[in-house]
Amino acid sequence: MKHFLAIADLKPAELKRYLDTAKRLKAEWRKRGNRPILKNKTLGMVFQKPSLRTRVSFDMAMLHLGGHALYLSPNEIGLGQRESIADVSRVLSRYVDGIMARVFAHAHVVELADYSRVPVINGLSDREHPCQALADVFTIVEHRGKLKGQTVAFFGDGNNVARSLMFACALGGARFVCASPRGYALDEASVAAARTFAAKSGGAVTLTEDPQAAARDADVLYTDVWASMGQEEETARRAAIFPPYQVNAGLVALAKPDAIVMHCLPAHRGAEITDEVADGTHSVLFDQAENRMHAQKAILAILMDGKTLKR
Ligand code: CP
Ligand code: NVA
Repeated sequence: MKHFLAIADLKPAELKRYLDTAKRLKAEWRKRGNRPILKNKTLGMVFQKPSLRTRVSFDMAMLHLGGHALYLSPNEIGLGQRESIADVSRVLSRYVDGIMARVFAHAHVVELADYSRVPVINGLSDREHPCQALADVFTIVEHRGKLKGQTVAFFGDGNNVARSLMFACALGGARFVCASPRGYALDEASVAAARTFAAKSGGAVTLTEDPQAAARDADVLYTDVWASMGQEEETARRAAIFPPYQVNAGLVALAKPDAIVMHCLPAHRGAEITDEVADGTHSVLFDQAENRMHAQKAILAILMDGKTLKR
């Protein structure tokens, strides 16, 4: 049984299969609607944090594929509090055909997978946001024609979104540059692991504290919130440190003339990204948000019914 917990767990061929499947399912959806690949199957969606995109895009993805999604709010399950993670997983996986979980500690989604009889998908942890990264590289391929050889520059906190994007770029042969303030860079172990991927794919991973250097001649400029969910008490401290990493018109002017601007959303407009850039001609923010649904259909189809998908 396969799970989808981290981009760091994937092989290049697996990333390619997810991307090819997303492309196929999106094209089918556009042309003639959906095939009920997951007829009568149910996805249990466990949320320990709020969500718009992840919740609704998974819900719609299951609906389009003929199945059903069950939303379990932060108040309901009490993962690890009302009941142990192992018992939640053992019980829930007797009822549903797949589990998607948005958690605080990455170890919690790994533990869910360890005790589950059905595939488990990471809908965001403190370590990775792999569904986001899959949609992100899918969007890069759509807008730039390919991932290999692209320069993808991330600005801000070396967080879950940055880490998953780094691994996806390294697997796919892109050059990933992460510009962060001192003390907020991606961790060395992750960077070293991503560099082993990049060495095989022809990509590269670079860290810098200089946002202008990162932006220069980039194909993709990407940013995310400065304080992630669970770091709310650090918001004021970070707001004083991060402004040089804002994606604004000045930074975009340094990139390639046809560069695209990405953000996983939700955005704090006026902080990590200006309105002018978020709503400007380089922005692909809402294509990127839509692609969550298409990328996740590929994940659901591959994990929950690879056989029907082949037909
Ligand atoms: N990008 C993303 O995961 O958005 P939500 O937090 O709204 O799900
Ligand atoms: N880094 C952000 C992403 C939200 C989709 C967070 O974890 O809150």
